[in-house]
Amino acid sequence: MAKGLDIGTMNIICSERENEDVVFTRQRNAFLELESSDLTKTMLDSAKVLYIEKDGVINVLGEDAFKFATIFGKESRRPMKHGIISPKEKDAIPMIKLIVERVLGEPGHRNEVLCISSPADPIDMDMNTLYHKKMTEALARRMAYETHVIDEGLAVIYSELSDYNFTGLGISIGAGLTNVTLAYLATPVMSFSIGRGGDWIDEQVSITTGLPKEHVCAIKERGFKLNFEVEFGSPDGALSIYYDALVTYIIKNLNRKLAEITPPKVEFPVALAGGSSQPNGFLKTFERKLRDAKLQIDISNVKQAKDPLYSVARGCLIAARTQEGGDVEEGKTEVSKK
Ligand SMILES: Nc1ncnc2c1ncn2[C@@H]1O[C@H](COP(=O)(O)OP(=O)(O)OP(=O)(O)O)[C@@H](O)[C@H]1O
Ligand SMILES: [Mg+2]
Repeated sequence: MAKGLDIGTMNIICSERENEDVVFTRQRNAFLELESSDLTKTMLDSAKVLYIEKDGVINVLGEDAFKFATIFGKESRRPMKHGIISPKEKDAIPMIKLIVERVLGEPGHRNEVLCISSPADPIDMDMNTLYHKKMTEALARRMAYETHVIDEGLAVIYSELSDYNFTGLGISIGAGLTNVTLAYLATPVMSFSIGRGGDWIDEQVSITTGLPKEHVCAIKERGFKLNFEVEFGSPDGALSIYYDALVTYIIKNLNRKLAEITPPKVEFPVALAGGSSQPNGFLKTFERKLRDAKLQIDISNVKQAKDPLYSVARGCLIAARTQEGGDVEEGKTEVSKK
């Protein structure tokens, strides 16, 4: 057996095979501080909530942190920012460790193969991903997994472009980052990230509309449509404007990076994944801007991942199965569970 693990700024997702199915276990990458009392602890225990207690303070982790934050009108904290362990959160590592342990579970056997996604270094921020990569790898290794790390963009290619011999552009538009990989026959030719994703959209719309970020994020996730016939002053209008700016920015940087390499002379399909690629109209906008940009490579087609939020975890599982010497068969049906 083998497993895949996507450690993202907003979601931590494990993928594994159960018979013919691919099963996903997801938790929010968040925590919330509560005052400790016996009653609170009894309540959390009986509800099987994931938490830790230290120095009279309880930290609720994962999906429940997010739920409790909404109920109590508090803001949950995030152990990661811009795709990596946040240097500003001193409690980040123990929090991520617990959430990872919960989604991964024990290995089925010692040295079970685990493939973890990692962001590529961003080209527009002074930040590198090495420390994050090493920490997440060490964490899983300590749990007795044999760990391998692949770029998040390559995981998208593994998940979505098997019909194209794993040749193409994989783009994951997440919360903290956008990751891009160009691969030829499963070998990365170019990988980079950009320091903008869903969090950037939430921040910008919050600044312009005066609405709290969490509120903007909720409106966005409820399912809005990219619509450039903007209704003045509406959050949907502001979301559309910043989505348009994000796509323009991603493609401008892609064009710039492609100019630095000599890619193989073949046609490349493009796969879009990640939670922020989900709005209605996103694929069409991306494809139109990509074609208008006249890139240095020929694009055959642009497709959206079947299940954008789970694509990276799914790609990690396929990579892990390949490492293990198993087939790259992707599983017939896909089941999500918490
Ligand atoms: N229906 C939706 N429409 C638009 N955005 C959405 C939707 N659902 C989730 N998102 C956004 O997707 C992002 C989370 O996606 P994802 O899980 O791919 O990111 P991540 O892997 O945790 O982050 P990163 O890869 O940047 O570290 C968040 O910004 C979230 O608000
Ligand atoms: Mg991600």
